[in-house]
Amino acid sequence: MPGSKAIRVVLMGPPGCGKGTQGKMLEAHYSVPQLSTGDMLRAALRNETPVGLKAKQYMDRGELVPDEVIIGIMRERLASQDCKKGYLLDGFPRTVAQAEALDKLLEQSGTKLMAAVNLDVPDEEVVKRLSGRRQCRVCGTGFHVVFKKPVREGRCDACGGELYQRDDDNETTVRSRLSVYNKQTAPLLDYYASRGLLLRVPGTGDIDNIFKQICSLIDDKANSGRS
Ligand code: AP5
Repeated sequence: MPGSKAIRVVLMGPPGCGKGTQGKMLEAHYSVPQLSTGDMLRAALRNETPVGLKAKQYMDRGELVPDEVIIGIMRERLASQDCKKGYLLDGFPRTVAQAEALDKLLEQSGTKLMAAVNLDVPDEEVVKRLSGRRQCRVCGTGFHVVFKKPVREGRCDACGGELYQRDDDNETTVRSRLSVYNKQTAPLLDYYASRGLLLRVPGTGDIDNIFKQICSLIDDKANSGRS
């Protein structure tokens, strides 16, 4: 059962490790918003905002969008009313500079991170997952052509919306996202380990089992007084 402390959790791991899948399940379970920087950037792109159009060139190459853009988006988002009782960060921070900026925002609001949960998934599994991933155009729910099939082909189980394949889910871009991850994001494992916040969960196997493991680790933290 969720404890009484605010759930402020970072979901980490390589592209395709299941941050979005688990984030949506955790959002429903803990009633705190899942904040996905990838989803925010894709929404900005759909709306053709200056941020979205700038981000597109980086996303198409599998590179990271500049820190100052992402930090600006998150500063604004974390100040929203619905984040007061906690949140699940999906895809942020992704660099040490972003992690430091988050620490500063937490300090300014007098709050603390509860945990950084890393989903460990080998590179070849990532490639298999992302090349078969399909996403709902309307509500963003993720599916997979083999591992998580929708009941009706091409249609979202949650809202009936059309399923599509992301532009950056081709093998070449996925491999460059992996290499960017290893160079720029993997150092965050040490960053959070040295602060006693890192929790590692195997991200392979049954989706519901992974969810149960994450919930059990979060509940332990929630009940242990660290918040
Ligand atoms: P973003 O959208 O965050 O992409 P990502 O980190 O590459 O992560 P994904 O969304 O691809 O995967 P996921 O871990 O959510 O996995 P999912 O649950 O979908 O970022 C996209 C781009 O935006 C970046 O490349 C960058 O350019 C930019 N960006 C975003 N944030 C940024 C930041 N902070 N700084 C700078 N730039 C930023 O699962 C994947 C598939 O596997 C699905 O099909 C799913 O059904 C399936 N699956 C999930 N779990 C399992 C399981 N246990 N077994 C089998 N299949 C599974």
